[in-house]
Amino acid sequence: MRILIMGPPGAGKGTQAVRIASFCEIPHVSTGDIFRAEIKGCTDLGRKITSYLDTGKLVPDEVTVEVIRKRLQQPDSHKGFLLDGFPRTIPQAKALDGILGEMGSALDLVLNIRVAPQALLKRLTGRRVCRKCGATYHLLYQVPQADGVCDSCGGELYQRSDDTVETVTNRLDVYQKQTAPLLDYYRERDLVREVDGELPIDQVWAEIEKLIRSFA
Ligand code: AP5
Ligand code: MG
Ligand code: ZN
Repeated sequence: MRILIMGPPGAGKGTQAVRIASFCEIPHVSTGDIFRAEIKGCTDLGRKITSYLDTGKLVPDEVTVEVIRKRLQQPDSHKGFLLDGFPRTIPQAKALDGILGEMGSALDLVLNIRVAPQALLKRLTGRRVCRKCGATYHLLYQVPQADGVCDSCGGELYQRSDDTVETVTNRLDVYQKQTAPLLDYYRERDLVREVDGELPIDQVWAEIEKLIRSFA
């Protein structure tokens, strides 16, 4: 399947994406994760984009589209994929249509994880991520067994540099202005299915699993 998961910053896209990718046996393609890996690796691309991520601005479309074009050309994407965090603008969505058209494929499903804006700040400032394996935790909602240590690999947990109150506020604003309008782009094609992202994590997954099964 070719799935796109959408929703505002902190909606739970990454948390659910891990489960979807494993359930459907498809790669989880997250532009945010790809960009953070480039920054960590101090690559040329990483140096170019670091200020965008730190301030919560969108990386320019040309850069982002090329990253996705390369990723979707890799053989593991041919059986399907889960896009998380891309596309985020109408030009990105149109570029994706072009890339998929060249591959002779198209999106099957767009999941829209809905969470009210008031809940998002708390989710993001309380988030902690494993440096080693990328697993996501929360100080209140998904508490690791030992303080600051990843349950699955023992790695150190850290706070993303863009999870400060100031940058989160900017990211939420950017989402409303530039990314939310994309939903109508996909609604016109009847691809969007709504998911209540305010339920506990396992219940959100149960809703998503039901939707995916109904497509299989
Ligand atoms: P990206 O990494 O995509 O960040 P984002 O869209 O802001 O989303 P997040 O990863 O912050 O949230 P999430 O929905 O994945 O939530 P999570 O599951 O972690 O992008 C980062 C930056 O990269 C952008 O700002 C931009 O600069 C750049 N970028 C990326 N893509 C781009 C593109 N296409 N174009 C241009 N620039 C781009 O959950 C959050 C927290 O809540 C966790 O602590 C989790 O444990 C908890 N939680 C999850 N679900 C629940 C639940 N149901 N109940 C309670 N808590 C929950
Ligand atoms: Mg994420
Ligand atoms: Zn880990």
